[in-house]
Amino acid sequence: MERPEEQWEWGYEGYEPAEERLREALCTLGNGYLATRGAAPETDAGETHYPGTYVAGCYNRLVSEVAGRQVENEDMVNLPNWLPLRFRIPDGSDASPGAPWWTPDQDGLLEYRQVLDLRQGVLNRTLLLQDPRGRRLRVEQSRLVHMGQPHLAALRTTFTAENWTGTVEVESAIDGSVTNAGVARYRALNGRHLTGHTTGAAEPDTVWLRCHTTTSDICVALAARTRLAGTGSEGPEGPDGLVEAVTEPAGPRPARRLTLAVRPGEPVTVDKTVALHTSHDLAISDPLRAALADLADAPGFPELLGSHRAAWAELWRHADLEVPGKAGHILRVHLFHVLQTLSPHTADLDVGVPARGLHGEAYRGHIFWDELFVLPYLNVHFPETSRALLSYRHRRLPEAVRAAREKGYAGAMYPWQSGSDGREETQTLHLNPRSGRWLPDHSRLQHHVGSAIAYNVWQYCQASGDTDFLHTRGAETLLRIAQFWASRAEYDRGHERYRIRGVVGPDEYHEAYPGSDRPGLDDNAYTNVTAAWVLARALELLGTVPEPRRRELCEDLGIGEEDTGRWEDVSRRLRVPFHDGVISQFEGYGDLAELDWEGYRRKYGDIRRLDRIMEAEDDTVNRYKASKQADALMLGYLFSPAELAGLFRRLGHTLDDELWHRTVDYYLRRTSHGSTLSSLVHGWILARVRRPDAWGYVQEALVSDIADIQGGTTAEGIHLGAMAGTLDLVQRGLTGLETREDALWLDPVPVPELSEFGFTMRYRHHWGVAVRMLAGELCIGLPASAEGPVRVVLPDRTVTVDPGESCRLRLAGD
Ligand code: BGC
Repeated sequence: MERPEEQWEWGYEGYEPAEERLREALCTLGNGYLATRGAAPETDAGETHYPGTYVAGCYNRLVSEVAGRQVENEDMVNLPNWLPLRFRIPDGSDASPGAPWWTPDQDGLLEYRQVLDLRQGVLNRTLLLQDPRGRRLRVEQSRLVHMGQPHLAALRTTFTAENWTGTVEVESAIDGSVTNAGVARYRALNGRHLTGHTTGAAEPDTVWLRCHTTTSDICVALAARTRLAGTGSEGPEGPDGLVEAVTEPAGPRPARRLTLAVRPGEPVTVDKTVALHTSHDLAISDPLRAALADLADAPGFPELLGSHRAAWAELWRHADLEVPGKAGHILRVHLFHVLQTLSPHTADLDVGVPARGLHGEAYRGHIFWDELFVLPYLNVHFPETSRALLSYRHRRLPEAVRAAREKGYAGAMYPWQSGSDGREETQTLHLNPRSGRWLPDHSRLQHHVGSAIAYNVWQYCQASGDTDFLHTRGAETLLRIAQFWASRAEYDRGHERYRIRGVVGPDEYHEAYPGSDRPGLDDNAYTNVTAAWVLARALELLGTVPEPRRRELCEDLGIGEEDTGRWEDVSRRLRVPFHDGVISQFEGYGDLAELDWEGYRRKYGDIRRLDRIMEAEDDTVNRYKASKQADALMLGYLFSPAELAGLFRRLGHTLDDELWHRTVDYYLRRTSHGSTLSSLVHGWILARVRRPDAWGYVQEALVSDIADIQGGTTAEGIHLGAMAGTLDLVQRGLTGLETREDALWLDPVPVPELSEFGFTMRYRHHWGVAVRMLAGELCIGLPASAEGPVRVVLPDRTVTVDPGESCRLRLAGD
């Protein structure tokens, strides 16, 4: 049985070189602005270790040559490493004055423990090492990336000699020689994003480094102050303290070296405090000056820890989630990483939702549709963060309009992968590590990303009641996306339907028809149904925006009656293909070959990345009824059963339980779950369709990062969509929570393994709405400070909860 306090720790006992990169990703510390992987400060990047420091939205473009072609990629830049703090015990002999610096990879490591303190946002390490002469040194280390002051980070290290007297040499540095080298698949690509390094020292115990990105020309400055704990400046501290201090500011690795006097059982503590600024920051003159000024004001480690803890306490208050047992423990880890990537500081930044967090370099820090799995969670805890993330999209509306225009379409065509300025960042070639071949990448045809953005605009406004946003930036974004869909759809006289041709759906295994050299597929059901939904919402929005704003919007965006007429028509007559009594993932899916799933499983074991396996066999997964992840079934993730049935009705089809259940069974048997999003979506859907089977998928979604089930990918960055999605699974999936029509709608589906949990949320202007599921019961409470009553709609009744009251509702059927 786990003690409640253990739910707040995430730890590793012992040192496992093979697991180190995974642990680094999962022990990343961040504050939404800045994040640093949980790497050992004694080591540099190599096969085992990969320290990485990233600032949200700090990108750079480079050209590389692969497969005889010049390709350009934009990457989130690995910034100079502020962690380095290495130490050694001089061996005392004149013949060999410089003993090697100690690393965990060498002999003599007697104890090693690393624990993430989730409540406080601190990574603690404990090491006991012994040198060849039997001298034991205990090292205790705590680090933080400050949640309250986003430009600050700190590292406290305490050395205790156990059985000897002598000196320990410590070197604290900033490493400016880093490159982007965290993902093996990208190694053939140019990773040198930083140039123009200059370094120096500042009184009394600080070194600094400044450089800039090669093409985006973002200036980055770091300053590091290293001193003995409790001292305001350097100076001999007597026998228990500092013997000597030297500053070596030159070169790519400006450093400060301290020689410490140690005696058995008497701890000596060194504190490193770091400030980082970039030229993107607000309210600064130049980054170096800002970093030095921050450092000059930064208090000692205990005070920094105090204010950092207070900032985290505030976050946890807003994101309170109580789930018992192992699931609850993992969910807290997920929440921790979501909050470190997208914190209240995000509200002041021009950034989107990076698919792999700020935890590694996979997908180059790009922004995909994954925000679809993230914003619904944030909407009811940190609405300002959601608003900022939607504003990132709104600022890139002109770029999306340009992209649509270049292809001959109206409205906004958002990129599948977005970075600094919102142009399409999807690579044109990708490497199959199994075959070693570089292959054309057509995933940019996933235009459904636009619907995800529109969905988030709508959801955010429904949950927050932010009509100001809805009628301004929200409306502009949503209406532009609607314009795109209306022009993207072509009328097909044969079918008497509108069709959207040449796209890729969420399932990335299918990019083209077998044997065709035209990329893309026709009438992807998910794309078409969500496009219809966007058009319907756009019409609804235009019907509710008050004048004169409505007129203004129509004038600005060029929307006339003819357009809204077409939207109405397209939203009712987009084609949804069917075959064998199920919804077809796309037109022609039913004609594809069946895959020998058992044969492939027997041959390869893990077949999650069937696309790579088959390409390496000179075959293509395009030929088969095999999906990487939920595609048509995503519809059951986005829409409640009633809303989905309504959408199909609008499109002239009947979607009853039988059709939906058959469709779920059909695709479930034909999906390899090659994305962490897949088990999440299937768990969510099965909780409604076939409850006993849901738990297996929910469990897989829960462990996808902590157990690294996609085979090494977590080490390259967490899967933020899956992490936030599991939180939302508890919050919306299992409760059926919807925020619409000025009410909270609930339709719980408690899976037996997760039937008791609770959380507090913000609904419109009500903070602290408490939702608690107990066996067979649902409890809704409003704090006394709430501004008014909340209407709660369950499938069989509607109740009103008043401020200061809580209402226990027995669930039908229990
Ligand atoms: C998934 C996409 C996802 C992307 C980034 C891919 O593996 O197929 O749906 O957006 O990863 O997380």
